[in-house]
Amino acid sequence: MNHKYNVLEAIDAGVSLLERTDNPRLESEVLLSHILNVPRSWLIAHPSKPLSLTNQTQFINIVNRRKEGLPLPYLLGHWEFFGLDFLVDKHVLIPRPETELLVEIAISISNKLKRPLVADIGTGSGNIAVSLAYKVPKALLIASDISFNALLLAKTNSLKHKTSRQIQFVQADLLKGLPKVDIICANLPYLTTHETFTLEVGLNEPHLALNGGHNGLKYIKQTIITAKSHLREHGTLLLEFGDNLETIMQIVARCFADAKLTTHYDLARRPRILQVST
Ligand SMILES: C[S@@+](CC[C@H](N)C(=O)[O-])C[C@H]1O[C@@H](n2cnc3c(N)ncnc32)[C@H](O)[C@@H]1O
Repeated sequence: MNHKYNVLEAIDAGVSLLERTDNPRLESEVLLSHILNVPRSWLIAHPSKPLSLTNQTQFINIVNRRKEGLPLPYLLGHWEFFGLDFLVDKHVLIPRPETELLVEIAISISNKLKRPLVADIGTGSGNIAVSLAYKVPKALLIASDISFNALLLAKTNSLKHKTSRQIQFVQADLLKGLPKVDIICANLPYLTTHETFTLEVGLNEPHLALNGGHNGLKYIKQTIITAKSHLREHGTLLLEFGDNLETIMQIVARCFADAKLTTHYDLARRPRILQVST
């Protein structure tokens, strides 16, 4: 690398390397502002500022990793969810905007309770638990995951957003050992094993967060079966799911005879969250 780039030349070099991504210019700018530790607006205001050789090398390296398919959030080390900034790493699923719907429903139910106790099972980066605690200061939460590394990151995120006094983090297999709560939030792995090993998402994100067994329902089914004995009176189970609404409804109907079922749709009008109100 003999030629030293200025800001504009670096962005253009990033754009041509990232031409196969959805938004090459935006991604190139985001990655350069990450390397230079400046806001994106600074880049626009300083197009002819020369890069140091170190920054130039770091930028080309990170752009190449993006070109190879590494998701932007893992490269940046953080991602936005529900208006809050969450640290993310290879041990956790990147928080998805669809899951914000689950948080909205949990907030609205929690607000109606005096002292809500909520369990977030499969907490990952802690995005659901921390967002809920942040928005509902009277809520207490138990955030569980089978992955110890995920729990470490979730705990860091709760410290970052000053919600750690509301959330207890526990390593647990689904609901095993957890007390009765008012709300169970569950965004568990729901891809089939085949999808986990063939879809692009499985190349980069942890299989522990994706693989829901041969039909994708292994963890969701187990959660529905055990949820009733972990819910307080008038408790609610909130489940995020993929494609299996009909089968999930059948399992719920078998386990919760008198519950009210509500299906919530995401912005793409796909059924996404099942609310089981007992
Ligand atoms: C689809 S990710 C969801 C992460 C996060 N809640 C979110 O909404 O982005 C599923 C999470 O469930 C965890 N998990 C997988 N098997 C589990 C089990 N048997 N018990 C508890 N958590 C489990 C994974 O480690 C992962 O963090």
